[in-house]
Amino acid sequence: MISRRTFIKGAVVGTAGVASGLLPLGMSAPTKTARAAVGPEPDLSLSLAAMPDQARIFSGPPTDVWRYKSQVLSGDPAQLIQAEGGYLGPTIRVEQGQRLLVRHYNGLPQETIIHWHGLSLPAEMDGHPRYAVPPGGTYAYEFQVNDRPGTYWYHPHPDRLTGPQVYGGLAGLFIVTNPQEQALGLPDGEYDVPLVIQDRTFDRDNQLVYIGRNPMSRMVGFLGRQVLVNGRPDYKLDVAATAYRLRILNGSNSRIYDLTWDDGRDLIIIGTDGGLLEKPIRRRHVLLAPAQRLELWADFSKDREGSGPSLVSREFDAGFSFGPGRMGPGMMRGGGMMGPGRFADPGGAPNGAPMTIMSVQVTRPGSGGHSLPERLLPIERHSEQQAWNFGNPRQFFLEMNRMAWTINGRLFDMTGVAPDEVIEPGALEVWEFLNQGFGPGMMGMMSLPHPMHIHGGQFQVLSREGGWMDGFVDEGLHDTVLVMPGQRVRILMKFASNQGLFIYHCHNLEHEDMGMMRNYLVERK
Ligand code: C2O
Ligand code: CU
Ligand code: CU
Repeated sequence: MISRRTFIKGAVVGTAGVASGLLPLGMSAPTKTARAAVGPEPDLSLSLAAMPDQARIFSGPPTDVWRYKSQVLSGDPAQLIQAEGGYLGPTIRVEQGQRLLVRHYNGLPQETIIHWHGLSLPAEMDGHPRYAVPPGGTYAYEFQVNDRPGTYWYHPHPDRLTGPQVYGGLAGLFIVTNPQEQALGLPDGEYDVPLVIQDRTFDRDNQLVYIGRNPMSRMVGFLGRQVLVNGRPDYKLDVAATAYRLRILNGSNSRIYDLTWDDGRDLIIIGTDGGLLEKPIRRRHVLLAPAQRLELWADFSKDREGSGPSLVSREFDAGFSFGPGRMGPGMMRGGGMMGPGRFADPGGAPNGAPMTIMSVQVTRPGSGGHSLPERLLPIERHSEQQAWNFGNPRQFFLEMNRMAWTINGRLFDMTGVAPDEVIEPGALEVWEFLNQGFGPGMMGMMSLPHPMHIHGGQFQVLSREGGWMDGFVDEGLHDTVLVMPGQRVRILMKFASNQGLFIYHCHNLEHEDMGMMRNYLVERK
């Protein structure tokens, strides 16, 4: 098979604007060429560039960021929703079954590639790090969206550089809908609100500060001083006194939130990573790890005008904390990084520290009329007994090995696959993640939380043992599961029939960049 990358690179040679750094948004000729080569007319075709940009996040100097910029080349322009303010990429809305063509352009000073987090796609469309394109390069994605209605997202996935690139601002939501979902009458339009939670550290010049040279802060992961929602600090959501659908993504590199409403009302959960649940569930608080999504039904019809609850993260115990050194702002200012994010100690509060995420304020009367459906969408479930490896799960030990986080003692190897990482197309498998921490000889040190993510689809969470935490939502479908220190978590995944090399990894992005990531190969024996 001819490599898509080579093919596309050939196709864009001579496109005006690429060399000058302008957005090559009107790449119509190469688009046609690509389409002729790959089949039916797409329903939506987009350009999607990763570019240095500036964002007005605070008063004073603008912040240097990296941003996804996109334009509709053909199809319905309403499927692309530009983010208001902040630095996030646009939200892409897709009807289940639609075919997409996305022309990705790398305007960064380093290699990059896009991953469509949560979607089940052919291997060449999934953004494996080996497909990363150099500065000025392009990659053409063409795929059909078969996934359930829900909230997915896209972000960069180059080897060792995912953390800093996401941190710089590269992320956006990808929302899938279908007629069955629309028939539920859930709040939509302005009542369907995306909330991307991220922590960041800014210096006195409003510039992003990334992780310090302290090896301990890499072990823990990046923890910022400040929480942003949709790329903005001190986020206030002005609402009408009515019901809302809140689509929450934890887009943080390493920070885990234990979300709750501060006035004690229940969280009403209607969706997880893999889309809508079968029926709403209620919780007092919910842990949300990096990459995980949570959809809430939030009814503000009983809140008085001028008031409203705050969404906060409760204090929790995240296991042993190496605790990055507490440097004052401005100390250890390193410079020297290529992109946004100066190299200094981010100095944020440890994982599990309490914080306010955002406040809600009712500013106007509501129209009413929305009632929470008793049933949402069916989920195609599998039973553990049907698993091809029933009684003999694949085990994945999450452990520290020579000062690096590893999976079964192994680090990422671009094309390397161990014999126990080969999977039959369409297999139904039980995977078991074991986070048992350091051995007893290590002065009883605990381990850290690891949000484990598997590319290529969604899974059910079968069981969770050990540890001391509650607040997990194991109902519904997931692509990322939080494995807390001392826990053993079993999942059941029906792998797609797409063959080729896929990855699974810890979605603590600093752990991932350090090599806590492995390939799995889907191949017929
Ligand atoms: Cu969201 Cu492999 O990543
Ligand atoms: Cu993913
Ligand atoms: Cu990890």
